[in-house]
This record gives sequence, C-alpha cells and structure tokens, in this order.
Amino acid sequence: MPPPLPPKPLQPNRASLSFLFLFLLSLVVYVSLSPSRKTPSPSSSSSSSSRNAPADSFSAPHRLFLSLHPGANATIAAHLRALTLRPHLAGTPAAARTASYVISHLRAAGLRVALADYYPLLSYPASASLALLRPDGALVKPLPLAEPADLEAAAVPPYHAYSPSGSAVAPPVYVNYGREDDYSALDRLGVDVRGCVAVVRRGGGYRGAVVARAAARGVAAVLMFKAADHGGVPQDSVYASGRGGGDGDIEDARWASDAARVGRRVAFGGEERGWTGDAFKRSNVLFDEDRKLAKIQNVFGIIRGSEEPDRYIILGNHRDAWTFGAVDPNSGTAALLDVARRYGSLLRSGWRPRRTIILCSWDAEEFGMIGSTEWVEQNLGRLSSKAVVYLNVDCAVQGDGFFASATPQLDKLIVEVTKQIQDPDFEARTVYESWIVNNGGISKIERLSRADSDFSAFLHLAGVPSVDFYYGDAVSMFCLLRLTSTFLRHLLLIEVFPGYHTVFDSYKWMVEHGDPSFHRHVAIAEIWGLLGLRLADDLVLPFDYPSYSAQLHEHATALSALLDGGGSVQVQPINSSIDELTVAIREAVEESKKLQEVDTTEDFAALRRRAFNDRLMLAERGFLEAEGLKGRPCFRHLLYSPPEDSESKLSFFPGIADAISQARKYAGEEEQLGIQHEIWRVARAIQRAAAALRGELI
Ligand SMILES: *[C@@H]1O[C@H](CO)[C@@H](O)[C@H](O)[C@H]1NC(C)=O
Ligand SMILES: *[C@@H]1O[C@H](CO)[C@@H](O)[C@H](O)[C@H]1NC(C)=O
Repeated sequence: MPPPLPPKPLQPNRASLSFLFLFLLSLVVYVSLSPSRKTPSPSSSSSSSSRNAPADSFSAPHRLFLSLHPGANATIAAHLRALTLRPHLAGTPAAARTASYVISHLRAAGLRVALADYYPLLSYPASASLALLRPDGALVKPLPLAEPADLEAAAVPPYHAYSPSGSAVAPPVYVNYGREDDYSALDRLGVDVRGCVAVVRRGGGYRGAVVARAAARGVAAVLMFKAADHGGVPQDSVYASGRGGGDGDIEDARWASDAARVGRRVAFGGEERGWTGDAFKRSNVLFDEDRKLAKIQNVFGIIRGSEEPDRYIILGNHRDAWTFGAVDPNSGTAALLDVARRYGSLLRSGWRPRRTIILCSWDAEEFGMIGSTEWVEQNLGRLSSKAVVYLNVDCAVQGDGFFASATPQLDKLIVEVTKQIQDPDFEARTVYESWIVNNGGISKIERLSRADSDFSAFLHLAGVPSVDFYYGDAVSMFCLLRLTSTFLRHLLLIEVFPGYHTVFDSYKWMVEHGDPSFHRHVAIAEIWGLLGLRLADDLVLPFDYPSYSAQLHEHATALSALLDGGGSVQVQPINSSIDELTVAIREAVEESKKLQEVDTTEDFAALRRRAFNDRLMLAERGFLEAEGLKGRPCFRHLLYSPPEDSESKLSFFPGIADAISQARKYAGEEEQLGIQHEIWRVARAIQRAAAALRGELI
C-alpha cells in the first residue's frame, strides 16, 4: 500500500493553517525521527571460525580476505570519523581534503593511485530567504531555511542545485506530493496554482521531476519539505527536505556547462520552524544562485591483473556530500578503504588478481553523478570493450536490512557471496539468511532502472553489468513490500533515513543509530570485496544468464498484462526474442560446463575461455541502442534506464513505458504505433544480446 492517507490538498488559506500544524508538530517529533530500534548486539566473537560458510568453499586468497575481519569495524569507524569531520560539498577545499585522505590510504594499502580531475559547472546558493507577508505585503516574519545552527557548522544551507536565481511574492499552495493526481485533485477543487508558490511534500518521485511538473503547471516557485509518513516514524512529522541536485537528470552531468536549460526551477528545502502567522496570504521566496566552474577530483586505486590486465573489475563509491555525509556517501567510502586495506594484505602475501581491479572514489555525484559520468564518457570506447562489471556502493549503511539491486546475470553471485558473509546483527546467521527472512523467503533483487547513483553511466550509457547494494532496507518493510514501482520503493527507502541530505547525516547519527558497532559497514566491505575477488579471479566469469531469461519472462508477462486490450499493439516480437535469447543462454550454460572441465594446459584452453568470457561480458551491451531513448541520448539501455515519466507503471523497458504514458495522454493511432515501435526496438535489442552471447554477428 502506498503511504497511508496523505493529507488532502486544500484551498490556499486552509493549506497554510494545515502547515502551521505540521510545523509545530515538526518541533515536537524532530528528536524522535531517527530509528530508535536497538541494534542487536553484534557478534563479539566474530572471528572467521564462527562463519557459517564451509571453509572449503573459499580459495586461499578469499579465505585470507575474510580472515582480515577482526578489528575491521574499528578501522572503518576511524575512516568515517576522519572523512566526516567537516561538510565537504564538491568543489570546496574540504572536499579536496577528503580526496587527499583517500589517496593516502589507497597508497598505504599498496595500490597504484591515479587521478582524473574535471572542471564542471557546479551550483551553489549565494543567498536564499523565505518570509511570510500579510495580504497587503507587510512583513509578518522571515522564516529560517537552515537547520539548527549548532549542528550546521559551515554546511551549505538547504537548496536545489541548478535552480535559476529569482524571487516570487505569491500565495502559497499546498500541492501534496506534487504528482499529476495531486494537481488533478486541486483542479477539481477549483484551485489554480498558476503564479503561486507550490509547497510540496517530498516523496512524489525525483526532485527534478516534481519541480518540472510544477513548472509545467505555471507555478512561480517550489518549496519542498519532507514529511515522514512511513517506516514507523510518526505520521505527519515534518523536517528539512535538505539539499538536492540534478538527480534523475543525467543531462546535468553530461552538459553541466549548459545547465541554463533547466528552466524555471526554484526549489528549496527548509525546516518549517517558526511558521506562526495564520493570517498571511503571501510568501516571499528569494533565491540567488552562484553557478561556477569548480575542480572535482576522481581518485582511483588500481591493482593490475596478472593474466588479463585489460579486463576491468570496477568498484566505485562517491566521496562528495551535501553536508557531513556519514551515511551518504562516506559509509561507502570507509568500506571501500577497508576493501583496499584487505586487497593490500593479499598483495603482500603474493596474490595478484587475474583481471585488473579498479577502486574508484567519485566526486560531484550529488550534482548529478558528474564525476563518474565525465569519466565514463571520456573512456567510453575502452570501457565498452573491456569493463567486465561495475560494483557500486553509495550509502553503505542507513539502517538495517540488506538491499541489493543488479542486472540479472549477477543475481546468483550476490546470493553465493552473501551466503559466505556473517550477518552483522545476528551471530548465528549469514547475511543471506537474514535477507531472505526479511523478504518473506526470497532473495529479492531489484533492477537498476533508477539513475540516482554512479552506476548510471556505467549501465545506462556503457551497458556494463552493474550492482548497487546497501544496508537499510528493513525499516520500511511493512509499508513497502507491496509497492510495485521500483523507483518509488527505492526512493522511499532512501527517504526513510531521516537525515538524508541534511546536517543530521553525521558521524554522531551513525554511532547512535545507523551502525553503533560498525559491523554493518564490515559486512558491506566483505560482500563488496568478495564480489570483486570472484569476478577478478574466477576462470569463467560468474555471470548467470538463466536469471536474465527468467527476469525477461516476468517482464514480458507484466507488459502483456498492462497492454491487455491495448488495441492493436503486439507484444509477440518481444516474446520471440526472449525465446531466442533463452536458447542462446542454454547453449552458453552447456559450453561453460565444458570450459570449467577443460584441462588448463590444453592448447588454446586459455584463449577459448577468454573468448567465452568476452561473450558473457558483451551480451549486456546488446541491450544498448546507439541513439538512446527518444530525446535522451545518454540513456541507451533499452531494458533498464529510467523512464521519462517518473510515474510510469513499468520499471523496465523505459522506451515502451514512455510510449504507453504518451498513449494514455493522447489516445490516437499514432501513439499505438509509437508503442509498437518501441516494442520492436526492445525485441531487436534482446536479439542483439542473444547474438553477442552466441558470439555471432547475426
Ligand atoms: C568493534 O566490534 C567489537 C566487537 O563487537 C566492539 O566491542 C567494538 O566496540 C567495535 N568497535 C567500534 C569502533 O565500534
Ligand atoms: C509473452 O510471454 C509471457 C511469459 O513469458 C506471457 O505471459 C505472455 O502472455 C506472452 N504474450 C504473448 C502476446 O504471447
């Protein structure tokens, strides 16, 4: 069920009254927002001997990697403390200090360090203010936008990056989540939002999409606030909506220097303390943007492969944060440094990975995945032909409960690896066991149709099989399990972490609530590192394509159901192409069995394996279409890219999803043909993947 009973949209005047109520409530409940659930005491005797997995399922380096567990939590805590001493927004001196920190620790681990600097156009607030006015324009009082000062410590005030400068003196209108439904409800009530300040509750999809929808309705400005109405947090508690950037809008990243096209986008976050007047009719919103070129720095730690140095296993996490970033993203950075430390120990023991491993620390993710996107674009040709996999961790820990999303050929490996890692909260269990208990008996893995972290350029633009995972799923389980939309589900999961993009995303929060003994961080580092080792060292790549075929059948079923009675549209081409892919997959499985048995000394055995692995690697590229989705050349993955319509019912086949949304708006013959055209595009993409897997051109 979607969030329980959001307040109904009201007439402007009554909306303000309702706000007064919400603001007052916010003061009361703010303190209790952090999940107060006590962390089960972590295993105190978590030596490698207490692991559940049978020891003989590990190779020697993998055993060594896992044996470096004792004390890892303290090391990770120290990294997190150091990285989060100050807010470190991309492009600032504090951000440069975190880069130096990561560089020195990658070097200390014995990895070769490389850097990639860029100078994109970033967006900062020069000034921002909000005031309440009486109907005659007289000032009632200014309202603070920032969070409590004692915590704020030089953090940038809440703002929406790439908002153009401007001011609006206009009546506020509460538009609920700012979804199409909400505007329809307002229309029915006879409320005209044109020229008003839209007051939006966070949770209606990507920030950018919410603002674009408001702009399309002619509002003058958008004020965004956050209301927790799920995950056991008291209903209607209101707090700072924090900061946001070009999320879901990869264009910002790609054409950062052309960001003016964003249009009328004035969005703020602000805590609504002190909203006391009930007689006001107007609010005065003012925002002055400071948009400038700033240096950003991607940092890489490299371990050259011994036998296939030109095949890349890429692990990545961003380093820049809106504020202190203890959750987002430096829980991931601290885990990445622990992976580096352990790989360093393996290197000193004489191990070399078969394929090259690259650890990436990205910059300027918060402004629209700029660091990773620039780098992927710069190296697109080589990544397309040589990148085996991209393993992303953004917010490593934001609560309890393991969550994974991936392209389907990685499902099986994720299951295998999580079966080998001890659960951070229950000594007698593996991560896998707790995960399936939380998910009603299945290892539910989401797909990556979102564009909200650094996997986006790798998957959506370059077609590199990808994974994204974290701790923090369980908080919201009760209300979210039945939500079908991947986007909404993921978005709400992120949003249930109360400090998201606020100054409350601090080390203090992590120690008190997120991961008091840092064992969840350790679990993430171990899953990440072990995934990397398997992918770098396995003779035959651990890609399981039967999962892909099963997933595509599910997608085809869902699509058929959605289009049932959809006029003349035929889903059949997709079904035929899935059948073709399924046959290719069956043959590949047979071939893979034979290759595993081959005597490595046999002539050409290595060459044959390499050729086969390349086919496994390149099959995913088949799903790309060179010109990309309609009007969005950066989204080339026809199975998993975000649909333009963020309220779409389909979380896969984005081109089809958008064509269906179009057809809902204008039910003409041309729109039906549009859907059919997109179905053909997907069918051909699946055929390309089948051919790539067979190793044939056609
Ligand atoms: C690390 O784990 C041990 C054992 O659970 C615990 O006693 C210790 O306090 C933890 N260290 C940190 C920094 O949380
Ligand atoms: C396509 O295949 C799915 C299952 O793989 C099935 O549910 C659906 O009915 C099929 N549609 C058509 C038009 O054959």
